[in-house]
Amino acid sequence: MLPPQYRHEGPTYVNDAIVVEGLVREFKGGIRAVDGIDIHVRAGDVYGFLGPNGAGKSTTVRMLTTLLRPTGGRATVAGFDVVADAASVRRSIGVALQDAAIDPFMTGRELLRLQAVLHAIPRPEGHARAEHLLERVGLTDAADRRVGTYSGGMRRRLDLALALVHEPVVLFLDEPTTGLHFDDINKLLVAFRKLIENGGSILIIEHNLDVIKTADWVIDLGPEGGDRGGHLVVCGTPEKIARTAASYTGRYLRPVLEKHRQWGEEPTVEEVRSSSSASKSRTNPASRKQPRLRFA
Ligand SMILES: Nc1ncnc2c1ncn2[C@@H]1O[C@H](COP(=O)(O)OP(=O)(O)O)[C@@H](O)[C@H]1O
Ligand SMILES: [Mg+2]
Repeated sequence: MLPPQYRHEGPTYVNDAIVVEGLVREFKGGIRAVDGIDIHVRAGDVYGFLGPNGAGKSTTVRMLTTLLRPTGGRATVAGFDVVADAASVRRSIGVALQDAAIDPFMTGRELLRLQAVLHAIPRPEGHARAEHLLERVGLTDAADRRVGTYSGGMRRRLDLALALVHEPVVLFLDEPTTGLHFDDINKLLVAFRKLIENGGSILIIEHNLDVIKTADWVIDLGPEGGDRGGHLVVCGTPEKIARTAASYTGRYLRPVLEKHRQWGEEPTVEEVRSSSSASKSRTNPASRKQPRLRFA
């Protein structure tokens, strides 16, 4: 059971996307990369996962995606235990991690169709999904080019499409915009917003604030080396994070949020969030209730 400060008020939903309780990962040599964190992601919510390099973000996501065994605590994803029921977790998730290996001699269309075969999706359906995804991420024109000729932005959009072929319950993205030009980031954002409109849960590790503004909630993990490394510093709306003095992420978010407010050109975080939760509420009424994750 989660301690009270991590519990949402009101009913808990059986379809909770991610529940993490006291999760620990210790590496050889005594490095506690993740040191007992609690996270509760409800179905339909988009979570931004921030924190300095070495804070334990990738390690957490590797445990939640069954690539790495926790050394303590427990976690469920889409209702399945990541250790006891890893195969069910894998069937329920889409994953686009850092440095994913892809065969450069295959085309985008071939890779998407292969992914459908690997997920045992019948051939006609697999082909239809490949075409739909190519269109959705803006790669139809490049579908028959070898992936080795793709730009960084095209590769990331293909990674996103590949993670979605089997229509996962929960999507994990690890730094999808790192190293990309702003034009590529915008294209990825367009695809991302379309995805969010249809509900579904997304946990995204990201440093790009335009991406983070589309998140309902932000999790801030503590810094490397400091006495809070691998700890949850704060979890809440982007505005709450920006007001939390102890949060590194907040220090980074605050001036940016203030600048956006002064310019008044772009929608505020509040506007983005309320418009995305309004569109989501059509498909998932549960997501309209505000989770209240409070740091004690
Ligand atoms: N396989 C590993 N063996 C030993 N230490 C590791 C391993 N993977 C990660 N670490 C360490 O765990 C800490 C957290 O790393 P990571 O989860 O990659 O952080 P982040 O993704 O937040 O930048 C770092 O100190 C890193 O060096
Ligand atoms: Mg990382």
